[in-house]
Amino acid sequence: MTRIWPGVIEHFKEILPVSKNTPIITLYEGNTPLIKAENLEYKLKKEYDVKLNIYLKYEGANPTGSFKDRGMTVAISKAKEEKSKVVICASTGNTSASAAAYSAKANMKCIVLIPHGAIALGKLSQAVMHGAEVFAVKGNFDVALKLAKEISEKYPITLVNSLNPYRIEGQKTASFEIIEQLGFVSDFQFMPVGNAGNITAYWKGYKEYSKRNNVKKLPKMMGFQAKGSAPIVKGRPIKNLKTIATAIRIGNPASWKYAVEARDESGGVIDVVSDKEILSAYYLLSSLEGLFVEPASAASVAGLIKYVKNGYFDKTDAPNIVCILTGHGLKDPDCAINAAKKYVKIKTVEPSLNSIMKNLKL
Ligand code: F0G
Repeated sequence: MTRIWPGVIEHFKEILPVSKNTPIITLYEGNTPLIKAENLEYKLKKEYDVKLNIYLKYEGANPTGSFKDRGMTVAISKAKEEKSKVVICASTGNTSASAAAYSAKANMKCIVLIPHGAIALGKLSQAVMHGAEVFAVKGNFDVALKLAKEISEKYPITLVNSLNPYRIEGQKTASFEIIEQLGFVSDFQFMPVGNAGNITAYWKGYKEYSKRNNVKKLPKMMGFQAKGSAPIVKGRPIKNLKTIATAIRIGNPASWKYAVEARDESGGVIDVVSDKEILSAYYLLSSLEGLFVEPASAASVAGLIKYVKNGYFDKTDAPNIVCILTGHGLKDPDCAINAAKKYVKIKTVEPSLNSIMKNLKL
C-alpha cells in the first residue's frame, strides 16, 4: 500500500530516536491542517484596529482527535522495540484515548488512570472502545499521575505520559511541520498549557529546527492555563481545581520547569484565561472559522484575543501568529451543547413546510 503521508515517524525519522530496528506503530498521524483564520483576522481588525496574520493548527484532525498521537506513535513504537507488553498512563482523557488506540494497534495492553468524573465523554468512550483497562481514580489528575508513575517503577509496565521522553520527541515534530507548512518561522505561538509537555515539546522542536537549519528566529511561546487551574502562573501547585476545560485541569504540571524555560528563553508569557474567555473563543472558532475544538484547545485563541484587547500587539506590525488547536470538539459534546444554548436555540417543529418557514429567520 502506498501512502502519500507516511505518518510522523517515517516523515520525521531524521529528527527522531528511531532506527531500522524500531517497529513503526502508526495510525498515520500528523500532517494536520494549518488554516489561515481570515474571518477572525477581519473581526479583530474591525473591532480593535489590529492587523494580524493568524494561522490555526488543527491538531484535532489526528487519528484519535488530539495532538497526543504525535508523541504516542513514538512512545508505543519504542515500548514495542524494548519488548514491553503493557503501558500505563494517567490522563484527563486525550492521552488515554491515544495510548489505548496505539496499544490496540501494537497488540499491547493499556492501563488508564483517569480522574473520577472529570473527563469528557468522547474521550472515555475512546479508551473503553480501544480495549484499555480503565480505572477512575477518586482524586484529580495529579494524584492519578503519581500512581501511574509508581506502578511503572514497581512493575514491568511502561509509562506513556509525557514524562516519557519519547512522547516529547514525537510531539516536537509539530514545530517542524508548522514551519514546513508556513515556509517561515512565525513570530508568536499561542497554546494551552496543562501538564506542560506540549509547550516543552514545541520549544524543543523550534530550537532544534533553528540549530539544524541555521535559522536565528524563534517564535515567542505564549502559553495559557485556565484561571481556576493555573499553578505556573500562581507559582505554586494547586489542589482545588476549577475549569470547564477538563483537559487542562491540572494542579502540578510534570514539565513545569521546562514550560518556564520555554517562556523565558523565547521572551513569551504564561498567563491565564477565564472559563468565560475560553467559552467565547470556543464558539467563535466553530461559528466563525468552521473549526470545532474542545474547550481546552480554545484557550490558545482566548489568550490571543486577551492580548489583542490589552494592546500587546503593535498596530502596524502585522505579526505572524500560530494558535494550536489541540483537540477535536467532538471529544466533549456535552460542553458544546451547553455552550451553544447561549447563541442558538433548537426549534422543535411540526413536520410541515409551513411550520419550518414560520420559524425561519432569513
Ligand atoms: N489541550 C488538550 C486538548 C489536552 O488534552 C491537553 C492535555 C492539553 C491541551 C495540554 O497539554 O498537558 O502537554 O500541557 N491533556 C493531557 C491528557 C493532560 O491527559 O490528555 P499539556
